This record gives sequence, structure tokens and C-alpha cells, in this order.
Amino acid sequence: MTDSVLPRDQILCGDNLELIRRLPDGCVQLVITSPPYFQQRDYGAGMGNEKHLDDYLDNLLRLFCECVRVVTPDGSLVFNLGDKYENSSLLLVPYRFAIAATETGLVNLVNSVTWVKKNPTPRQFRRRLVNSSEPFFHFVKSDAYFYNLDAFMVSDNAPKKPRTKSTNVGKRYFELIDQSDLPEEAKRNARLALEQVIQEVHRGQIAGFRMKIRGLHAEPFGGQDGGRQIQLEKNGFTIIRIHGNTLKRDVIETPVESIKGLKHPAIYPVKIVEEFLHLLTRPSDVVLDPFIGSGSTAVACKKLGRRVIGYDINPEYCESARKRVAETPSETLTLFGNTP
Ligand SMILES: C[S@@+](CC[C@H](N)C(=O)[O-])C[C@H]1O[C@@H](n2cnc3c(N)ncnc32)[C@H](O)[C@@H]1O
Repeated sequence: MTDSVLPRDQILCGDNLELIRRLPDGCVQLVITSPPYFQQRDYGAGMGNEKHLDDYLDNLLRLFCECVRVVTPDGSLVFNLGDKYENSSLLLVPYRFAIAATETGLVNLVNSVTWVKKNPTPRQFRRRLVNSSEPFFHFVKSDAYFYNLDAFMVSDNAPKKPRTKSTNVGKRYFELIDQSDLPEEAKRNARLALEQVIQEVHRGQIAGFRMKIRGLHAEPFGGQDGGRQIQLEKNGFTIIRIHGNTLKRDVIETPVESIKGLKHPAIYPVKIVEEFLHLLTRPSDVVLDPFIGSGSTAVACKKLGRRVIGYDINPEYCESARKRVAETPSETLTLFGNTP
């Protein structure tokens, strides 16, 4: 299958293991998904109702290996799972899965990001606490995974309020680029990079920046600055981003969503998917959710200008997910206009 015929922005109805086998190797940048939890709900068909935990884990692992196959070498996989009690004891299903996944030797586990539910189902247990968290496991295929830490949890962790749009940020550098002796192409690239970094300041992703332009600014020394020296020689400019003191923690705190009119019983928050899209993908990247359910992943992708492929075995869920996506406005306005 060539890139041009890859199904994108589509929710396909069917068994995910059959559907994913039609995809070529290395064609999606991120798989993010929430498989049915072990023996928790009856979705009518598909996974989750295996009699034995080992069978459930085997089935999930089979699909996981296919997901690894279709992810690009610099891509990521994010799997969200919930736990279950049996004979008054937690089964530790998510962790059994994570261990089995790493033991395939195909992936590294970068983080177990904890979703803290602000509004867990109120239950009155006398002898245990109310469970109010779930892990999102972040796996990668290589150490060269794409990672945009500056874009993660910006609104929650911003070091200070995003600056109001001021036309002055970086204005001096545009003038310096014009005055420089750089070739036209290098000037064009410098202006684009400058626009990009100004946006990061406006969004509160970074506290500020400095730009150095060849011929106008003193050359950095070697050592830690060696990379910048090379950029200056090769590109004609370099940008130094100034980060605040924000600590990016492996926790996302957000409420469980219940969406009016949606029949699906296990919806995960669009906000969490959005944060992983910011962290692990670029605009226009392709994202796969093999258990798309009510379409939360597709909604987040549409909002942030990522392409999505979704699968679900239940035709009713596919239909309502498509409707939900159609009703979602696209908020993507990049520096260079709408993403294609
Ligand atoms: C936990 S839900 C996903 C919920 C989704 N994250 C959301 O926010 O709506 C799991 C979904 O997997 C689907 N499913 C189960 N087995 C499947 C299979 N073999 N192939 C495709 N979908 C399957 C179920 O119908 C269910 O909608």
C-alpha cells in the first residue's frame, strides 16, 4: 500500500487485528489507545471477555506487536489500561501487560504516565480506597523517538502566563536578518524559525529566546556550544530557547468525561490524547487508535491537525464516533495557515 492510499481520517469498522494487517510497516507516527479492560464490560464482540487473564494478555500482545510493526522507527505507542479485582486482590493487569510488552524486546518503556481522575465514581468501600488513577504506558521503538517536551502540558505547567500577542517580540531579529549577509534561502529559513519560536513564546511553551546570526553575533565557543557553532556555520543562524523552571511530571489530572448523547461506557478524556499528541507528534502526522470506541482519539486529532485511522468492532460505536468527529471543529491554525 503506498502512502497515498493509506486510509486517513477514517474510522473503519471491523476486527482490529484483521484491519491492521492491511497496513504497511512504519506508516504511523503514534498509536494511542485504550483496549477493553479485562472482564469489565461487554462490548458485544471483540476483546476483553476472555475467560483467562493469560488469553486476554496474549490477544492484546498479538495486537501490540502489529502496532509496533506499523509505527515508524521514531514513533511511539501509548496504551491505557485499567485494573480489576479478583478474589479481593488486584490482578495488576496493566503492569502484567507492560512487562510482557517490554519482554518482546521490540520496545522500551519510557514512562508510565498516571491519569489522576478528578471525579472518580463515588463508591463507599469500608476496607479499601477508591481507585482514582490509571496508567498510560509510553513505549518507543528506538532512542531516536520524536519528543516535543516544550509542548507538553503547557496550559497546566506554564512557568508564567502566556504573553499577550505583542508585535515587538523578536522584531529586532527580523531587522537583523534583513541586514545580514546571509544568502536569501538562509534568510527565509531564519524568518520561519523565528516565527515558530515567537509562537512558542506566545503560547507560554518557553520563557524566551535568543537568536544568533552569522556575521552579526559573536560565534559561540566549542564545548557545550559546539552544536550551535555548527548550526551557525551550516544554517547561518541558531536559536537558543530559554525554558522556565517548569517540571514536566508523569501525571495528568483531569476528570472522567461523560458526553451527552454518547452511548459508549468507557470514554477516555480528549485532553489526555491532546497532551500526548503535543508531546509525540507533529502536525499532519498519522495516528492510529485500534480501539477507537466513541472516537475520542479522532476528536483530539481533528482539533490539533493530525491524521487519524480508527478501528472499532462495534458498528454503532463507529457510527457515533464518525458523527462526533464531524461535529468537532478543527482548531488548527499553524504559522503557515491551515495544515493540509
Ligand atoms: C475501552 S473502549 C475504547 C474507548 C475509547 N478510548 C473512547 O474514548 O471512546 C474499547 C473499544 O474496543 C472495541 N473493541 C473490542 N475488541 C475489538 C476488536 N477486536 N477490534 C476492534 N475494536 C474492538 C470495543 O467495541 C470498544 O469500543
